[in-house]
Amino acid sequence: MASFYFTTPIYYVNDKPHIGHAYTSLATDVLARWKRLEGHDVFFLTGTDEHGQKVEKAAQDAGMDPQAFTDQVSQSFRLLAERMGFSHDDFIRTTEPRHKAACTALWEELVRRDEIYLGHYEGWYAVRDEAFYGPDELVERDGVKYAPSGAPVAWVKEPSYFFRLSKWQDWLLRYYEDNPGFIAPASRRNEVMSFVKSGLQDLSISRTSFTWGIPVPGDPAHVMYVWLDALTNYVTAAGYPDTGAERWKFWPADVHFVGKDIVRFHAIYWPAFLEAAGIAPPKRVFAHGWWTIEGQKMSKSLGNAIDPLALIEQYGLDPLRYFLLREVPFGNDGDFAKSALMSRNNGELADTLGNLANRTLSLIQRNCEGRLPAVAAGTEADAELLAGLIALPAAVAAHLEAQEFHLALEAIMAQARAANGYITLQAPWALKKTDLVRMGVVLRHLHSALRVFATVLQPFMPGTTAAMLDQLGVPQQARGLADLAVPLPEGTALPPPAPLFRKIEDAA
Ligand code: MSP
Repeated sequence: MASFYFTTPIYYVNDKPHIGHAYTSLATDVLARWKRLEGHDVFFLTGTDEHGQKVEKAAQDAGMDPQAFTDQVSQSFRLLAERMGFSHDDFIRTTEPRHKAACTALWEELVRRDEIYLGHYEGWYAVRDEAFYGPDELVERDGVKYAPSGAPVAWVKEPSYFFRLSKWQDWLLRYYEDNPGFIAPASRRNEVMSFVKSGLQDLSISRTSFTWGIPVPGDPAHVMYVWLDALTNYVTAAGYPDTGAERWKFWPADVHFVGKDIVRFHAIYWPAFLEAAGIAPPKRVFAHGWWTIEGQKMSKSLGNAIDPLALIEQYGLDPLRYFLLREVPFGNDGDFAKSALMSRNNGELADTLGNLANRTLSLIQRNCEGRLPAVAAGTEADAELLAGLIALPAAVAAHLEAQEFHLALEAIMAQARAANGYITLQAPWALKKTDLVRMGVVLRHLHSALRVFATVLQPFMPGTTAAMLDQLGVPQQARGLADLAVPLPEGTALPPPAPLFRKIEDAA
């Protein structure tokens, strides 16, 4: 049993959660569940990013004290995680004492190693991104300068502590070369590498113009830069600075899941901070793409941000989970259209998987007295079906190892389509009158197929697959990947089947 550590970004509490937030965490959840299904020890972390100027301003706008405000908004992210069925082991908030202790310890370690010095910052800053930008990165419209993300920037001039980032440029480039899987997908890796090659400057890591943050040790006129604070959450939750803690065994993280907008922080600043402090850098950062909504950018001002809770209400949780990871290659941008959700649900879940389950289980119920027929050797068509099934878990594992969620689902669907072809060709409903033995063999093969599909789909659709495995008569303790090698006994009594998926009639 190996141990794995997967993280989501911690979410800013300046606004309520939308579908983009649910997406990053969903991918993390599926990988965490998959690794548990393989029998590994998993630590899955999510949480909220609560300091900084942006959050302070949101609290002011809401007329609330920042702590009361962050308590409230953080709660809405907790609720989202619960409703989305996320299986996180810890939910961290950056306003917690354990996190303040970790940030303070990390800062002091960097000071001890002479990685931090006091200077003066003068340059462009975007509060929306909580990021500094060089003048050559900006565009100007109507007298206002904007960052590449579209966020307006303002000129900032204040005393500041600096991290000696420039010193780590060559080390970073070597780290990327030596660990080709560190940044994925490859397009992001290239982007980060060319940014680093173009030259890194020392990074301003404290602010004096507001107070909502963790005070700099020994100089409380400064608060720590919110990204240094935020990134540190990943080691806080693993027990830092107590590297003798039980949880420290999970560090370094296996995959930090992030959106493409925050890859720079995770792939440049974060490994540099850690290496400078003598802590091992994470193994991988995967940057996924962004969702647009019915062809438009999702934004507060357009008022088109999609509330995941409303979608769950309307379509059900598992169809939503399935759709988000099936529709768009992980790493690419994608468009969220309700018509697309409807067609994935109806075509793949209801028609392909649901129908197969329903037809097979109804026939076993009616023609075999609801008892599982024996396993038996069969025809060439049987062997072909079984060969596809046997290979499926390893194929899914390989895709998930590379965070290719859509390909994992495509591989499962391909086998489900093959099983549908098999049932049509073998026509077990007709065999009832001609060859009862053969009917049993066919139904048993179809049952085996459904068991494999339900088992490997558990991380994606935990609720529906649990119901499916109940209907298939698979005991709770026999739902792991390794259990697939042990056939259920002949004669196992199956409960009467009930539909697992419903068709969505109207996407509006
Ligand atoms: N607080 C920082 C992360 C700190 S991690 C140490 C942050 N928070 S965020 O709430 O703004 O964004 C969190 C995640 O949501 C990011 O990974 C971001 O890419 C993702 N998404 C926000 N909008 C999105 C879409 N429209 N589509 C897909 N994901 C998007 O950044």
